[in-house]
Amino acid sequence: MSEKLKVGILGGTGMVGQRFISLLENHPWFEVTTIAASPRSAGQRYEDAVGGRWKMDTPMPAAVKDIIVKNVNEVEEVAKEVDFVFSAVDMSKDEIKAIEEAYAKTETPVVSNNSAHRWTPDVPMVVPEINPQHMEVIEFQKKRLGTTRGFVAVKPNCSIQSYAPVLTAWKEFEPYEVVVTTYQAISGAGKTFKDWPEMEHNIIPFISGEEEKSEKEPLRIWGKIEDGVIVPADDVKITSQCIRVPVLNGHTAAVFVKFKKQPTKQQLIDAINNFSGVPQELQLPSAPKQFIRYMEEDNRPQVALDVDYENGMGINVGRLREDSIYDWKFVGLSHNTVRGAAGGAVLCAELLKAQGYITKK
Ligand SMILES: NC(=O)c1ccc[n+]([C@@H]2O[C@H](COP(=O)([O-])OP(=O)(O)OC[C@H]3O[C@@H](n4cnc5c(N)ncnc54)[C@H](OP(=O)(O)O)[C@@H]3O)[C@@H](O)[C@H]2O)c1
Repeated sequence: MSEKLKVGILGGTGMVGQRFISLLENHPWFEVTTIAASPRSAGQRYEDAVGGRWKMDTPMPAAVKDIIVKNVNEVEEVAKEVDFVFSAVDMSKDEIKAIEEAYAKTETPVVSNNSAHRWTPDVPMVVPEINPQHMEVIEFQKKRLGTTRGFVAVKPNCSIQSYAPVLTAWKEFEPYEVVVTTYQAISGAGKTFKDWPEMEHNIIPFISGEEEKSEKEPLRIWGKIEDGVIVPADDVKITSQCIRVPVLNGHTAAVFVKFKKQPTKQQLIDAINNFSGVPQELQLPSAPKQFIRYMEEDNRPQVALDVDYENGMGINVGRLREDSIYDWKFVGLSHNTVRGAAGGAVLCAELLKAQGYITKK
């Protein structure tokens, strides 16, 4: 019998679900044994259920083609087959909250890509290099749910990954005011140019809910556990504009920052290049060797050249220069469906396994 943990993918036929399936092909710790989606797909072979909707650059892994897709709503049926699940279903927020807790209550840990539980006070929202200690809130959540091994953990929104890690690397200089404009890829809406031809040669200055997430989620990641809940930090103010641009993969962020302690340019660059965390220390399978890199060239980072840095798990930074109103400005770039979605969640699950929260049932 395989020693790998058995994983189910909720929403496995969708874009993020497909990314999970691609990233987990040949994963050393996890094996996809179960895939669930809407009742429309349930009962079909995975390959047939996806049909012409396969959106990855790499072929569909042979090992999943014949898996019979289950109905996400048949919780016991799915839960009994797996050690834990990744969640990437697209339903209403309330439905997602309820279904993820229902899985947790079957003693099945849920690592979610969805936003539904990001503000549930005892649910950790984690970037493993930044706040791995927030997983400790799981013990309080389990008490609330009445479980021994079931819980929900989430990763934050894709938009923040191009700047929140950078600001974290600069914590010693006390950034306190941040203005960010994000230029976000269409895959962040689950789309390709085939399904969204109106995005060719176009810019849309609105992404529903994204500005609030971009401003608030970093504060929760920098927060502390107090009395069994995560209390967000309140010493940084972020304001944002989020814009959809005609790019397939890769969210760019143009950022202005004020610091309480004035750094030199070299100090900022060194802090970026030297920043690492628990995933690097533990050499987790999906951890980038270098989490953030600084690029000296004036025309980098570029989506076309740099989005796949560290297999899409690294953050690219460039164009760091002094500003006439703020202190410093820079441009960041990250892969929205890898670091920003499925890859970030896989790294969370690896951290949870290393910390002993996810085990064989
Ligand atoms: N795309 C990104 O980069 C990104 C980033 C961060 C967060 N997210 C979030 O991740 C989630 C998935 O996004 P996506 O882009 O992968 O969406 P998607 O391509 O539309 O896929 C949605 C998945 O949910 C399933 N589903 C839809 N309605 C359902 C229902 N009523 N009951 C059960 N399952 C249902 C679909 O199954 P069928 O195939 O059977 O319809 C499919 O597997 C969304 O909540 C999205 O907001 C996406």
